[in-house]
Amino acid sequence: MFFADCLNVNDAGHLTIGGADTLALAEAFGTPVYVVDETQVRKNMRAYKRALDTYYGGHGLPLYASKAFSCKEICRIASEEGLGLDVVSAGELYTALQAGFNPEKIYFHGNNKTLFELEYALRERVGQVVVDNITELETLDALAAKTGQKQKILLRIKPGIDAHTHDFIRTGQIDSKFGFALETGEAFAAARRAAQTQSLELVGVHCHIGSQIFETEPFALAAALFLDFLEEVQKQLGLVLPQMNLGGGIGIHYDEDDDALPYAAHCKAIAEVIDTQCAQRGLPRPFLLLEPGRSIPGPAGITLYTVGAVKEIPHVRTYVTVDGGMGDNPRYILYGAKYTILCANRAGDARTQTVTVAGRYCESGDLIQEFTKLQPVAPGDVLAVLATGAYNYSMGMRYNRVPAPPVVMITDGKPRVIIKGETLEDVARLDV
Ligand code: LLP
Repeated sequence: MFFADCLNVNDAGHLTIGGADTLALAEAFGTPVYVVDETQVRKNMRAYKRALDTYYGGHGLPLYASKAFSCKEICRIASEEGLGLDVVSAGELYTALQAGFNPEKIYFHGNNKTLFELEYALRERVGQVVVDNITELETLDALAAKTGQKQKILLRIKPGIDAHTHDFIRTGQIDSKFGFALETGEAFAAARRAAQTQSLELVGVHCHIGSQIFETEPFALAAALFLDFLEEVQKQLGLVLPQMNLGGGIGIHYDEDDDALPYAAHCKAIAEVIDTQCAQRGLPRPFLLLEPGRSIPGPAGITLYTVGAVKEIPHVRTYVTVDGGMGDNPRYILYGAKYTILCANRAGDARTQTVTVAGRYCESGDLIQEFTKLQPVAPGDVLAVLATGAYNYSMGMRYNRVPAPPVVMITDGKPRVIIKGETLEDVARLDV
């Protein structure tokens, strides 16, 4: 039911995370509060490294996709664990640099990086920029020429794989705002153009085929398509591109229907394709980059709320309202995302009620989950929404001027605040 090693139930029947009692956490920090277990985050990071070591002889690097959850502490942890980093904005880059992250191991993404962001990346000596389009290629080349730098780049390529259809297929779909299309020759033309630039060094290719994916096949297919491309580039342009970045996308458990994709199976499938095909084609094995976001902090995090009212509408549904909602977790309103919710003070009991958990925002669609199983609850009970470590804090919004909740990290059973909660003063801090 819990889908993460860090979650358990103690003798009092309370949900625990990383050994810490969630009721005590709610009491100490108030609700809503995000809680993340450090041990679980590190375990998840290490599992990626280990998988690359085991199946690809360590000839690769996981880059933590910080959009999933960006803050200084997680950047410090990623750095300590030896990972690289994917950033997609000046804000994420600034956070990483403030945390002391080695800029050489940062990959700067984005489909419309601003001039300011490109200049910032160059100034800070970001290792690799993942170039999305020809305008950006030209702009970055000109900027790097001005500063006399040689900037390493990868090309963002859409390989035409739709990993979200039930049976993933090569759709040949080119309708995406991200990157250069492979099948139209656009990607190859971009590689040719990149090779002619003065101040850019093309070192590889990148794709991201989707998120919350449960199968290994689409990744293996992406790797195979990229090998075709690398071979073509080598033959026609005489360029050997040393890096292949296959993006993120590993699916995690949100409820019992999900079948999380183990890191090892993911790496193994990709490594096998690359090893076999490189040997057959006489190509050097590229340095393999993977960009896990969700699967690193996602299962390691929960959100705690306090129940306000329980509204039973006969023959319709029962609403359980909580003191947070779309502001701290907009994923249900955006995607109809699934979540498992527990009553933290009776976590071991059977979930016998069917309820709709609603937030406190002025919007009918402000729900965390509809018609979900929950233990019988009353006002004052604490609810835990599981697997909220990714794309919750990072996607939070400030509707209704509700202050952002704090993020508490559990280290060896002890809580510490890693992002402070906003105060009412913060809410109006930038007003003039
Ligand atoms: N690399 C690139 C270039 C990406 O665009 C993404 C996610 C990742 C890596 C990390 O993917 P992950 O391992 O997390 O699947 N807001 C959505 C997810 C959007 C993902 C965007 N890109 C959600 O809450 O489900």
